[in-house]
Amino acid sequence: MNENITFEDKKPIDLFRQWLTEAEGKEPVNPNAMALATADSRGRPCVRMVLLKGIDERGFVFYTNSESRKGLELAENAYASLCFYWKSLGREVGIDGPVEKVSLEEADGYYDSRARGSQIGAWASKQSRPMAGRFELEKRVAQFTAKFHVGKVPRPEFWEGYRVKPERIEFWAERRFRLHDRIVYIREVESEGVSGSEWEVQRLFP
Ligand SMILES: Cc1cc2nc3c(=O)[nH]c(=O)nc-3n(C[C@H](O)[C@H](O)[C@H](O)COP(=O)(O)O)c2cc1C
Repeated sequence: MNENITFEDKKPIDLFRQWLTEAEGKEPVNPNAMALATADSRGRPCVRMVLLKGIDERGFVFYTNSESRKGLELAENAYASLCFYWKSLGREVGIDGPVEKVSLEEADGYYDSRARGSQIGAWASKQSRPMAGRFELEKRVAQFTAKFHVGKVPRPEFWEGYRVKPERIEFWAERRFRLHDRIVYIREVESEGVSGSEWEVQRLFP
């Protein structure tokens, strides 16, 4: 398990991609699942799972309903923390940073790639709001199926992509006797035209 991993000579996004690829080979279900923590304006946290749908040097992308609890919290406090845990590899990655919405073109591109049933589902679900019963959801699915019975299902405006722009990425690898590896990469994120800084890397005690 995780003997002699070299970290320091790697860029964190490349290392993350390598770990995700290894997880895809080992984890049978949703290796791209990550816990997403947000907080409201009073700093009260809430965490739930989402799926990673895009990764590049700019950050980590997921899609959701912007009127959901997480969407409202991100509107108030555009900061998030992500956590991946791959049991089969004994590895964890934590990512913190500010959040921005992806472009409409990027969101359209991903939405168009989804199954038609999931596209209808996005219209039907008033995510995170109270529902009288399962029947209310099924009725809404039937209504939107009828509404969009021919042609393309357009992306609802409230179904959006969010990018967590990492300013801290921590890699944790399980080692014997709980003497785990912890490597943290830190940088300043580019904002409002001010360019960000290079990654700095350091080891932490486990
Ligand atoms: C493995 C897994 C993956 C999920 N992926 C997503 C996702 O990508 N987007 C999403 O909106 N909800 C996803 N969900 C559901 C969320 O965990 C959550 O229940 C929902 O988004 C409402 O969260 P909120 O009320 O805190 O906004 C996923 C749940 C699980 C268990």
